[in-house]
Amino acid sequence: MIKELYAEVVGTGSALPPKVVTNVDLERIVDTSDEWIYTRTGIRERHIAEEGEPASKYASIAAERALEDAGVRPEQLDFILVATVTPDTPFPSTSCIVQKKLGAPRAACMDVSAGCSGFIYGLVTADNLIKTGSYKTILVVGVELLSKITDWTDRGTCVLLADGAGAAVLRASEKKTGILGTHLGSDGSLGHLLHMPGGGSLNPATHETIEAKYHYLKMSGNEVFKHAVQVMGDISEKLLDVVGLKREDISLLVPHQANLRIIQATARRLKLPMDKVYVNIDRYGNTSSATIPIALDEINRLGLVKPGDVLLMVAFGAGFTWGVAALEWSKQNTPSS
Ligand code: ACO
Repeated sequence: MIKELYAEVVGTGSALPPKVVTNVDLERIVDTSDEWIYTRTGIRERHIAEEGEPASKYASIAAERALEDAGVRPEQLDFILVATVTPDTPFPSTSCIVQKKLGAPRAACMDVSAGCSGFIYGLVTADNLIKTGSYKTILVVGVELLSKITDWTDRGTCVLLADGAGAAVLRASEKKTGILGTHLGSDGSLGHLLHMPGGGSLNPATHETIEAKYHYLKMSGNEVFKHAVQVMGDISEKLLDVVGLKREDISLLVPHQANLRIIQATARRLKLPMDKVYVNIDRYGNTSSATIPIALDEINRLGLVKPGDVLLMVAFGAGFTWGVAALEWSKQNTPSS
């Protein structure tokens, strides 16, 4: 009889650039205020990479920490998935660059492009690769250096976007634990509401595209906000039904950190008190595909979950894309150093 396989999280890691930029620092760059940014978004400060630093640098540091936490050597990795919209270069993939940095010769490598939902897309891909029985140990990284595609004169976006990386090591288990259920979705017809027009085959880099600021992230913030609130609530409720979990079974909601008001709306929809919702947007801003794995790593190292606890991770992002995953925590926590 073929045994059913489950994907459990056996290690987490994260890495943030040392430089911290506060809201007050941004007041000197654009017409904004600490008060506006904090009350509208929940953000107080964010980490920003230095010039010349690539995403793979932070992805690799987060990955090394996750591998150490898992007690897994890089040579044991079967697959590396890196979720990012700010890869080092269009190709080779950032996952291949991370493979080289880690020294993980057995791993197959693939990047995932799903905006802020990227880590959940990576997690669901890893879960299904593990379920086939073909791959046992998979590294999933969410990394973003959004500062590199930020228009620092656009107050509607530059106060939100930030840099960072988070990683998780998943391993096949015959025990029913780890990822209990997932759902992914997309709506490409709304892609124009959050996009970067330049740099691809449609608008390759020219003097004109640079002058037109095509190489920066563009966003209709209000529209993204409305869709995010609706969709994150809908898919979370649906997944709980499908998996057969009740709201009371959720130990911690780990939402994508784009805006505190989106997070609060999702919590209200699920009738969860805010002490059951992990929030770190005040310290890190929106690091897109990195927000959930950074949060997971903090939750692990702060000892906020114990084996048997259920985490609900939910995200919404460019594409539009969305994803949700219910995870039963199965590892002993890693004390923070
Ligand atoms: N400082 C001061 N005022 C500002 C700023 C700022 N930084 N930004 C906008 N404003 C002004 C606007 O110009 C507007 O002024 P007006 O009324 O005179 O025209 C007013 O504030 C209100 O603007 P809104 O856009 O309506 O503000 P809102 O409350 O919607 O907040 C925000 C804007 C924070 C962007 C919100 O819509 C949001 O968080 N959206 C979702 C963002 C998101 O999830 N993004 C994902 C991106 S990352 C990725 O996917 C790669």
